[in-house]
Amino acid sequence: MAHEPRDGALLALAPAERTALDRAFELARLGPAHGPNPRVGCVLLADDGTELASGFHRGAGTAHAEAAALDNARAHGIDPRGTTAVVTLEPCNHAGRTGPCSEALLAAGVRRVVFALADPNAPASGGAARLRAAGVDVVGPVDEARGRQLVRTWLTAVEQHRPFVTLKTATTLDGRVAAADGSSRWITSPESRAHAHTVRAQVDAIVVGTGTALTDDPSLTARAPDGTLHTHQPLRVVVGHRDLPAGAALHGPGGELVQVRTHDPAEVLATLDAREVRHVLVEGGPTLAAAFVRAGLVDELHAYLAPVLLGAGPSAIGDLAITSIDHAVRWETLETHRLGPDVLLVAAPAKPGTTKTVPPGPAPPAPTPAPPARATPPPEAPRPPAAHAETHES
Ligand SMILES: NC(=O)c1ccc[n+]([C@@H]2O[C@H](COP(=O)([O-])OP(=O)(O)OC[C@H]3O[C@@H](n4cnc5c(N)ncnc54)[C@H](OP(=O)(O)O)[C@@H]3O)[C@@H](O)[C@H]2O)c1
Repeated sequence: MAHEPRDGALLALAPAERTALDRAFELARLGPAHGPNPRVGCVLLADDGTELASGFHRGAGTAHAEAAALDNARAHGIDPRGTTAVVTLEPCNHAGRTGPCSEALLAAGVRRVVFALADPNAPASGGAARLRAAGVDVVGPVDEARGRQLVRTWLTAVEQHRPFVTLKTATTLDGRVAAADGSSRWITSPESRAHAHTVRAQVDAIVVGTGTALTDDPSLTARAPDGTLHTHQPLRVVVGHRDLPAGAALHGPGGELVQVRTHDPAEVLATLDAREVRHVLVEGGPTLAAAFVRAGLVDELHAYLAPVLLGAGPSAIGDLAITSIDHAVRWETLETHRLGPDVLLVAAPAKPGTTKTVPPGPAPPAPTPAPPARATPPPEAPRPPAAHAETHES
């Protein structure tokens, strides 16, 4: 890991390098949000700051961003010797599915390397040191906040050895997910449901309890606006002991079906971590959602809120064994989005890393506009409705 300048490091860069870093972040986001590897972008600059070539990582087993940029240069007859490589993540120093980027940059004769975030992944880190030792001018980390945000799900896996967990709820204003008679179609708007499907298409796994799987017979697929399946289908994970019927929709087209016969959310995440799952979307039901919250294993909440009142019916989260407001589980609002008539509130646990019970204090922060570094996928068109639930249409 590198320990070069942090404060003001970004400002110390040449304007062309700062622009190139912005571009490298844009390129990185073209890579898949799902999959075991982080999203990384790289731009090669000439001495005068002209962009010569660029590349990004397209997923496990494909070229890393630095190698892709070098390939891009050579494909256009550009000699990368003497260039500056501007990268969103410290170049790796190990041979994983592909070769070490540090060696590729050295072999190419790159003169200077600027990177946003140091690589915390022990087996792969050390690229900056390796390059420096070989005489390359290396500057970084220069933009850790943006770098961490870009690869936050991957970082959770590297640092906490478990997938990043997003909990999704879709409720009325009074927190209900269904009416007293069990009917729940539709509480949220087509815009909300479409957005939820774009999220599905970006995660590695969708998780529900057996209660939801047996009651609603969901397919848990990610679909395009016209109803066709996205190319990427997340794993479909059912948690609980009861068997699913042979004719369950979960056995139909879609991602691989995995049943984890436990009630322990940590065991679910360990099972998925072993499969290199980085981002999990927990879609309920209330019992499973409550278990994840109680275990402090929710990193992010996507709460779709419809301007609807029911006054009775099940709520999105089951019993948390909280009897006093003093022990309320509080969240920090990160973003709000208007989706048709609904609002999507994106929140994180009030203290980073865990879902913490906090003492009473001032009211939770009012919804604020999205901070610039957070990218929310664009809304998509709705999918066909299902028999019951908002969140797991067939
Ligand atoms: N509208 C919505 O947004 C929405 C979303 C999801 C669900 N729902 C509704 O929620 C209802 C189902 O509620 P639910 O709470 O039964 O569903 P659930 O949370 O999906 O499933 C609960 C079941 O999962 C197993 N389980 C897994 N982890 C557990 C744990 N830590 N503690 C206890 N049990 C655990 C148990 O079954 P085993 O005995 O098999 O182990 C338990 O009965 C359905 O009617 C569905 O329509 C609504």
